[in-house]
Amino acid sequence: MSTPLDQAQKAFEASQKAVNPRYKPRYHLSTPSGWLNDPNGFGFFQGKYHLFYQYNPYDSVWGNIHWGHWSTEDLVDWHQEPVAMAPDHPSDALGCFSGSAMEENGVYHLMYTGICEETPGGMILQQQCLAHTKDGVHVEKYEHNPVVGAALLPDGASPYDFRDPKLEKTDRGYRLLLASRGEYGGQMLSYLSGDLKSWRYDCIYMDGLARMAECPDGFWMDGRRVAIVCLMKEGEDRRVIYRIGHEENGRFCAHTPMIDIDYGLDFYAPQTCLAPDGRRLMIAWAFCSGRVSPAHTLGHGWAGTMTLPRECTLHGDRLYLAPIRELRNLRKAEYAAESMEITGKVSLSACAGRCKEIVMDADLSSAGAFSLRLMETGDEHLLLRYDKHTETLTIDRAHAGYPPTADFGPEEYTDASARVSLREGRLHLHIFIDVSIAEVFVNYGEIAMSCQAFPKGESYGVSAEADGCVRLTALESYDIG
Ligand code: FRU
Repeated sequence: MSTPLDQAQKAFEASQKAVNPRYKPRYHLSTPSGWLNDPNGFGFFQGKYHLFYQYNPYDSVWGNIHWGHWSTEDLVDWHQEPVAMAPDHPSDALGCFSGSAMEENGVYHLMYTGICEETPGGMILQQQCLAHTKDGVHVEKYEHNPVVGAALLPDGASPYDFRDPKLEKTDRGYRLLLASRGEYGGQMLSYLSGDLKSWRYDCIYMDGLARMAECPDGFWMDGRRVAIVCLMKEGEDRRVIYRIGHEENGRFCAHTPMIDIDYGLDFYAPQTCLAPDGRRLMIAWAFCSGRVSPAHTLGHGWAGTMTLPRECTLHGDRLYLAPIRELRNLRKAEYAAESMEITGKVSLSACAGRCKEIVMDADLSSAGAFSLRLMETGDEHLLLRYDKHTETLTIDRAHAGYPPTADFGPEEYTDASARVSLREGRLHLHIFIDVSIAEVFVNYGEIAMSCQAFPKGESYGVSAEADGCVRLTALESYDIG
């Protein structure tokens, strides 16, 4: 008899034939077909990185959530693995929601949220489940799931908003950080276990997290604790933040306010893992819940892209995110331009192309503003604009082709901004363009911005415009992917 997992795999294989690849990124991970959201189970096991993801094999909108799976040895050449998990156990009958992984003694342990049992009011029970793989392909669920259910919730916390376990090993045993909703809104809960199967409630790790929190993460870096969480604000408003601090009796104590991780329009549910060489890597879903992708609306049969893997480092009280160095292996032709002066609008012909990496230093000593039109095709473009007076960098997709639509009405946000100070009068930009996504890293990782765009035209150029005179130095441009 064919199981839900077999059926999902069949749907996965069949649906790829119907995909229109027009907007498929070439060197960013995107789902071959169907729908993708959060990265899950990101980690290193048996010589490979594994990255699972929230996956709907049956449609290019959110729903019927399975786990898809990729693996890679080098973080650039990714291998599509079979669908890893389907909703096929009583504890996850309605979906296998987000979770994480940890390698130990030759076994890759996975923890995820199973959803099941809808109440007449449409509320769905959320419980934490355990699974593992020994070969890095076939996943076996623990037969006695769930391992953390409603009975282990502290007073006031809701069993209908209780999800996204992040697993780690601590000196107090295994720990899960979980998102939940209590009397005062979103919170992060901590659970402890000696064997991954039997868990006990530990404490509220962090609270005061908007209306509801999602996808918590936490790690140690340079002796400090970094806590990451997604905030569901009112309506469909979302924010992904980190705080740096320390722990006291297992609870997080913050030294910094909440700071955004990425200031673009499309960044959610980041997950980090420790690379064997000690780097802390992060990957995120380059979109946001509550929205429908233009790739779906256009009937292209796929929706969902990941950000590039990023390396996290601490600089004072800031978390820097920079594209991982392995991406250099994807560079093809290089176009290095001499330094040039920009007055008015200039087309940067060396930067034209659908899959590009562009590095530049812009000296704004004699300019009030500087803008780049990325993915420029006809009148369409994705605008990146720096205003020196307000020290604001803005990314704006109002004129960048098909917009995403919201589940509940038109897409509200067409631009997003970050405060950036010039460094000795200069702005350093490292930009990746990949068919329908752009990622911008500013001042060597101080600020990152991710943004999808679906221009109607096919050939992309880049133009620069200065209010005053901008000197571009060290302009490098590569074909990539
Ligand atoms: C975040 C999220 C998670 C949940 C998953 C369901 O995007 O809502 O909280 O586990 O997506 O797909």
